[in-house]
Amino acid sequence: GASTIWGGRFASGPAAIMEEINASIGFDKRFSAQDIQGSIAHAEMLVAQGVLSAEDGKAIRLGLEQIDAEIRDGSFKFSRALEDIHMNVESRLSELIGDAAGRLHTARSRNDQVATDFKLWVRGALDSVDDSLTQLISALVEQAEKNAEVVMPGFTHLQTAQPVTLGHHLLAYVEMFGRDLGRFRDCRARMNECPLGAAALAGTSFPIDRHKTAAALGFDRPAANSLDAVSDRDFALEFLSAMSICATHFSRLAEEFVIWTSAQFNYVKLSDAFTTGSSIMPQKRNPDAAELVRAKAGRIIGDLNALLIVMKGLPLAYGKDMQEDKEPVFDAVDSLGLCIAATAGMVRDMQANPEAMRASLKDGFPTATDLADWLVRAIGMPFRRAHHVTGTIVKLAEDKGCGIEALSLADMQAVEPKIHEGVFEVLTVEASVSSRTSYGGTAPANVREQVARARERFLG
Ligand code: ARG
Repeated sequence: GASTIWGGRFASGPAAIMEEINASIGFDKRFSAQDIQGSIAHAEMLVAQGVLSAEDGKAIRLGLEQIDAEIRDGSFKFSRALEDIHMNVESRLSELIGDAAGRLHTARSRNDQVATDFKLWVRGALDSVDDSLTQLISALVEQAEKNAEVVMPGFTHLQTAQPVTLGHHLLAYVEMFGRDLGRFRDCRARMNECPLGAAALAGTSFPIDRHKTAAALGFDRPAANSLDAVSDRDFALEFLSAMSICATHFSRLAEEFVIWTSAQFNYVKLSDAFTTGSSIMPQKRNPDAAELVRAKAGRIIGDLNALLIVMKGLPLAYGKDMQEDKEPVFDAVDSLGLCIAATAGMVRDMQANPEAMRASLKDGFPTATDLADWLVRAIGMPFRRAHHVTGTIVKLAEDKGCGIEALSLADMQAVEPKIHEGVFEVLTVEASVSSRTSYGGTAPANVREQVARARERFLG
């Protein structure tokens, strides 16, 4: 007891910690609007089913609407002692309307309630990710169109490979983000089943109408199994997975911005709005936004892992572990939102530097493949042999310290006598990119077609 030296501490200390570890109000107040929306739908259904009187139903709705207003205007007093958003709202409702408040929780448990609230919140987040990702795709498509003819080195292993167009490079990200959109939409379609009415885990003996509440809350149907309905967090895991993949795409693009904006590359200039200076080195324009986008991917992938690990060994049905589902999702949504917005800003403002890209095509023999292909086409050499001959010519150019296009015809004929004047037509980077007209290839004409296609597919 409190009379012992440690008793006071023992009696109240653990209770304080219990309250602290148990409470979720600090973060689940984020879906208060969804909690109220779900409760109004539940109460209306109970009235329609004759479980609640119309009078109680009306008092509950008016009370909940007032609470919604209080939360919006900031006058609502959240209490940690009341644990979570559900109990905070219900307790305020009983202050406002008395006994009728106690009837709201008929045929419902916090287990189906929290799953419903969270799903409603995730659905809203999916819709806003869809909107902002679409805006980003639009910014990329515009830059792709503007840079359809700008040639740059394409890389493999970050070594010069073949010339590509900047427009084509940017459209590669449009494909990635387009698949992300598809994943978010799949996730939304799969998750849109309503847990409400599953009650604690077994369903209820009250004559409820789960189809009615599901429809009122914009779900496609009620979840089929009450045990699954309260235990399922697949929707959060799937959303986190899709966000992790999407963040990985953002991170790769961000990394390219970091590389491209270095003085050694200088391919792209980011705007002042998306760079920062150094406190000591006056010349610096650091790509901090890009670096942070690159880093946020690690954080979002961490959020996915956190929830996978929480869920992986849980027996059915609800366990309090599942309260740990919310913070990773909120964190990932906030982080991805920043990635999308910052990247859209960087892409919109970016200034390509075609001269620098072109200048760096002088190194690395980017048209060597064009020479090998020409040997196949113009003199009927088998590709393997053409590869070998081209390698010898590249070595010769390397020894002379020039590009293959700067060698003389005599130099090349010393390696392969059948080579003639025509070869020089394929050795420019412009000739190289405009010859790549195979479907999905990098030619400017293809880029313009793909820009039009991307507008139909994603922006129509
Ligand atoms: N705050 C809880 C959560 O976020 C609500 C559900 C509580 N249910 C329970 N049986 N204790 O998961």
